[in-house]
Amino acid sequence: MPFDHRTVFRAADEGVNAYRLMTAVVVPRPIAWVSSLSADGVVNLAPHSFYTVACANPPIVQFTSVGAKDTLRNVLETGELVVNLAYGPLLTAVNNSSAAFAPESSEPEELGITMEPSIAVRPPRVKDSPVSIECTLHSTNQLGDSTVVLGDVVLFTVADEVLVDGHPDYDLLDPLARLGKDEWGVHAQVTSIRRPRKPSDIR
Ligand SMILES: Cc1cc2nc3c(=O)[nH]c(=O)nc-3n(C[C@H](O)[C@H](O)[C@H](O)COP(=O)(O)O)c2cc1C
Repeated sequence: MPFDHRTVFRAADEGVNAYRLMTAVVVPRPIAWVSSLSADGVVNLAPHSFYTVACANPPIVQFTSVGAKDTLRNVLETGELVVNLAYGPLLTAVNNSSAAFAPESSEPEELGITMEPSIAVRPPRVKDSPVSIECTLHSTNQLGDSTVVLGDVVLFTVADEVLVDGHPDYDLLDPLARLGKDEWGVHAQVTSIRRPRKPSDIR
């Protein structure tokens, strides 16, 4: 398809909703389903699609809280969080856990999502998610209305059912992705192609 004409959206222009555009074009986004614990011991669970790897070595992941939310407060208070993989069959539960529950309400309790103890940190993990990433707080970075949260990865748990030859298998992980509007990516089609390490590898 030839792309002959482009509409320009300047972020600073009135009438341009940069957030809506950004979430439409930075796609697909993985979803960190973050469990955390308040200082009072209330278990919190909320999806965050502003999520990625921040550092390879040491392993650090990051997500962004847009505004001050229970997850951010908990992580700042306790210094611990768990990123659960947003598993395809749990779409409704992941979505419902994004509702604005009061700080003293626990999403897993309200929604009937079964949690189980983590290994190295106090926030529990989602039992029916095949992956949990247990983290301690590395640092936060306030940017405008948002706060980037960096988590030092302490350990990963991966359900044996989604391991093939000891490695997590994408099809079995079946991760959800966040797209624009109210859209989600489910069951992404996978293709494999060898990466050229040097220009002479290119075929
Ligand atoms: C798929 C999905 C992705 C989301 N991603 C983010 C995000 O990256 N950052 C954010 O602040 N809120 C995000 N939200 C909204 C939060 O989940 C929502 O505000 C939630 O109530 C926060 O919960 P908490 O107050 O318990 O932390 C997302 C919602 C959905 C459904």
